Amino acid sequence: MSQQQWTAVDDYITSVLLEPDKALDAALGSSAAAGLPPIAVSPAQGKLLNLLARMMNARRILEFGTLGGYSTIWLARALPPDGRLITLESVRKHAEVASANIARAGLADLVDVRVGAALDTVPRVAEDIGGELFDLVFIDADKPHNADYFAWSVRLTRPGGVIIVDNVVRGGNVVDADTTDPNVQGVRRLNEVMAADPSVSATTIQTVGAKGYDGFAIAVVG
Ligand code: SAH
Ligand code: DHB
Ligand code: MG
Repeated sequence: MSQQQWTAVDDYITSVLLEPDKALDAALGSSAAAGLPPIAVSPAQGKLLNLLARMMNARRILEFGTLGGYSTIWLARALPPDGRLITLESVRKHAEVASANIARAGLADLVDVRVGAALDTVPRVAEDIGGELFDLVFIDADKPHNADYFAWSVRLTRPGGVIIVDNVVRGGNVVDADTTDPNVQGVRRLNEVMAADPSVSATTIQTVGAKGYDGFAIAVVG
């Protein structure tokens, strides 16, 4: 099995099961034109996020790591008209590209892009939401802070809510206990935190596709 085959199958799945989508294409196009790295979730992964949010009738969503807003658009489209998505991004240029993409997708009223390192901005999110906890959190920012983002997410997610973490298999490198890669170390620490927390139940599913060999962790809170 090869990357070429995974990409061909992903392209096939996308062509059969996903509608052509001008706003999502424009989001990827403007992200590339602005020099953002091509690391957004794949179309099929974005639709998975959308379907999961719809399955749970999510009304409040939190995202760590906006980039150009591609995953943000997929998630925000699952929201009802009075729903809300807060997305945290440290790089101002990424946040600006994302805000334009989100506006072009007609979602500006539902989405709040907050600029700053997520560990600096998330305490204010906690204050702003009052008691209204999130239904769904998507963690997809810098991997070394995964465990910190997860701890905040547990605090801010309602009982029965869901936390999804991207990039938790890293080409299989996650099994290397002696790794010096801080991204892999971040995933392994996340797994230890998830396993040790009696208030969550979690698993990981390995994925292949256009983005290589990686995986999603999914945790239910409460
Ligand atoms: N979720 C996006 C991809 C995010 S890529 C999608 O699938 O479309 C990871 C993003 O996290 C990058 O834009 C990066 O700038 C941002 N990031 C890195 N460190 C961060 C931090 N400390 N706080 C918030 N965002 C951060
Ligand atoms: C990287 C980050 C991501 O969030 C992703 O989905 C793929 C790659 C990276 O930093 O290389
Ligand atoms: Mg990712």
